[in-house]
Amino acid sequence: MKFVLKNGEEVEIRELDSKATAKQFRDFFEKIVKEKPQPFILVDKVPSMKEEEVWLKGKREKILKGEMVKLVAWRGKEIIGVCDAIRQRGVDRVNAMVGISIARQYRGKGLGKKLLVELIKLAKRKLHPRIIYLTVFSGNKPARALYEKVGFQNVATLPNWSKVRGKYWSHVYMRLK
Ligand SMILES: CC(C)(COP(=O)(O)OP(=O)(O)OC[C@H]1O[C@@H](n2cnc3c(N)ncnc32)[C@H](O)[C@@H]1OP(=O)(O)O)[C@@H](O)C(=O)NCCC(=O)NCCS
Repeated sequence: MKFVLKNGEEVEIRELDSKATAKQFRDFFEKIVKEKPQPFILVDKVPSMKEEEVWLKGKREKILKGEMVKLVAWRGKEIIGVCDAIRQRGVDRVNAMVGISIARQYRGKGLGKKLLVELIKLAKRKLHPRIIYLTVFSGNKPARALYEKVGFQNVATLPNWSKVRGKYWSHVYMRLK
């Protein structure tokens, strides 16, 4: 689907398809992981091409098995945003966990909200989860504001859990109301 950002630029949002390459994903993640100041995400190392290929193959397999849904936002051939929901394992398989990242130059233009809203609809339709949830570092104000706007609420906090930007931050669990 086409989506027009707040600055008028048009982007394309599609479910992960066979055209997307590991190199395109690696380029996208590399820019985010190398951001200064350090971003509030779990990953802090750029994967090798081999690691990225294995990662992408694994995601495609999960999608085929009905364990995952993934939306990718494109500007031409460049990946500018990703959002996914993964069914959890074993006794937690009734629940799905959401993740989202937008390339820095495309933030604050409505793309995160659009991706997340569409992803939730897709996840409900394809995964039928009992609980849709996510985790976010307490210092990640833009992400927490987005999640609250879309209908997530705090359910648990792991205090002073992970070190980002040289400081310990709490890990907040949020679920969709
Ligand atoms: C968090 C993130 C996904 C938000 O995406 P985005 O495209 O910038 O968000 P949007 O432009 O759609 O904004 C949606 C809402 O989020 C909130 N928001 C976005 N940027 C914000 C900021 N800098 N400060 C405060 N609130 C902000 C606002 O409530 C906004 O609603 P509004 O436009 O009606 O005011 C994006 O900043 C990002 O990818 N960050 C780096 C990776 C990351 O932190 N991922 C989440 C890990 S848990």
